[in-house]
Amino acid sequence: MFLYGIVLFAVAVVSSPLKNDYVINNKRFPENFMFGVATSAYQIEGAWNVDGRTPSIWDNMTHMNPDFTPDKSNGDVACLSYYKYKEDIKLLKAMGVKHYRFSLSWSRILPTGYADKINELGVAYYKNLIAELKINDIEPLVTISHWDLPLTLEALGGFLNEDIQWWFQDYARVVFSLFGDDVKYWITFNEPRQTCMGGYGYGYYPPAIHSEGLLEYVCAHNLLRAHARAWHVYNNEFRSTQGGKISIVVDTSAYIPASDNEEDKVAADTKYYFELGWFANPVHYGDYPEIMRTRVDQRSRAEGRSQSRLPVFTDEEKNLLKGTADFFAFNTYSANIVQHMDDPPISYPPSKYQDQGVRDFQPSEWQNSTQPSWFKIVPWCMRGLLKWIKDHYEDPDILISENGLCTDDDEKRIYYIKNYMSYMRDAMELDDVKVFGYTVWSIMDNFEWQLGYTQKYGLYEIDFNDENRTRKARPSAEFYTNVCKTRCLTDECVD
Ligand code: NOJ
Repeated sequence: MFLYGIVLFAVAVVSSPLKNDYVINNKRFPENFMFGVATSAYQIEGAWNVDGRTPSIWDNMTHMNPDFTPDKSNGDVACLSYYKYKEDIKLLKAMGVKHYRFSLSWSRILPTGYADKINELGVAYYKNLIAELKINDIEPLVTISHWDLPLTLEALGGFLNEDIQWWFQDYARVVFSLFGDDVKYWITFNEPRQTCMGGYGYGYYPPAIHSEGLLEYVCAHNLLRAHARAWHVYNNEFRSTQGGKISIVVDTSAYIPASDNEEDKVAADTKYYFELGWFANPVHYGDYPEIMRTRVDQRSRAEGRSQSRLPVFTDEEKNLLKGTADFFAFNTYSANIVQHMDDPPISYPPSKYQDQGVRDFQPSEWQNSTQPSWFKIVPWCMRGLLKWIKDHYEDPDILISENGLCTDDDEKRIYYIKNYMSYMRDAMELDDVKVFGYTVWSIMDNFEWQLGYTQKYGLYEIDFNDENRTRKARPSAEFYTNVCKTRCLTDECVD
């Protein structure tokens, strides 16, 4: 009852800024602002076993366990973009986007997972894709690894094996040398928090290992090492001739303190550090956030362990990691209220949630997307989130590398994108946050991982029963086209 009271109180406090009277920002975006859209290889390409591509962990999981997705689906065919990339680029061109964020399928380029054998046909696909983008004046923004780890490498432990830093380093060198003359923006990994929580913590993504509080930290540690190695390869061997930038894409909700009490503010910061700072701090400052170090070390000791569950970087690794994000790229979709709570007692098994020691929730009156339950539409939180990043990571250049809505109601999608972009524009104007690009997820409906084809994120609709996967514009495509063309969110914009 008491707890219920606290939650009600917190909801009343934080839901007051529902901002019904909010007016969409009508300032034009700067001329060089990058409007874009995003996809990833496994979610759109199909052609899973064509031209020498070998299976990734997602092929394996969906083939071996069709029930992994509610519609028993997989990415075997997906959006057929392996064959339809020219058509996709026509849509991008018509929309007027400046950049297209897509990913490379590791096992299409390196069928063994290693750099011993380069698959020329796989390489040709990406060469053609990039060439076609350049012809159309669209900047390729390339994610080197977006969750589809080659199965050969998972067999050796995947991200639990510290050798992944070398496997990834070699792969990265191959793609820099193959495509780097035409790529100015590189992303090493997409959403490492999901790779590690999903793959090795909660087990909702392949390889579906359940070891919360333990192996997600190991995964993150090795992934960060791999990121740093790739950044240095680029920096030392390619940057001077290719002149691009390289970063990592992290993902985060906006975390909003439940009240003005100091304890709740600290709780919200703690949550940011455990979710976003887990990756952002090492790549900016060389190590995990102090609060993470302290709390996980303490709790590990209290569990009778002689070693912390949060691994430790050597001094050499800290130096390698520090400053390995040339820009700050993040994906964001929703928000949570965060509240102080008493430290949870030590119990078995451990968990990252208990390590954080804060409570988070979403008020029920926050607007739902029509699809997953975690997804509440909270546009006003965008400004605070951007300000938090500005204040904690030395005022970086920021790319919003994904934002968008899964819904069956396209009007809602337009509302979502318009409002999120407007609060982003506010942050640029009123808080001087240096956002240089915004990327809608996604240009078209696609394979939404463990949810299969049941979730619709696309500006273009695809009927997955149609064997041609015909693309059909939704009104939101027209809306975004207008934004790209006018650099403006309303009918009347001012400079
Ligand atoms: C996160 C991932 O990067 C992307 O692959 C996914 O489809 C979208 N966000 C939506 O969940």
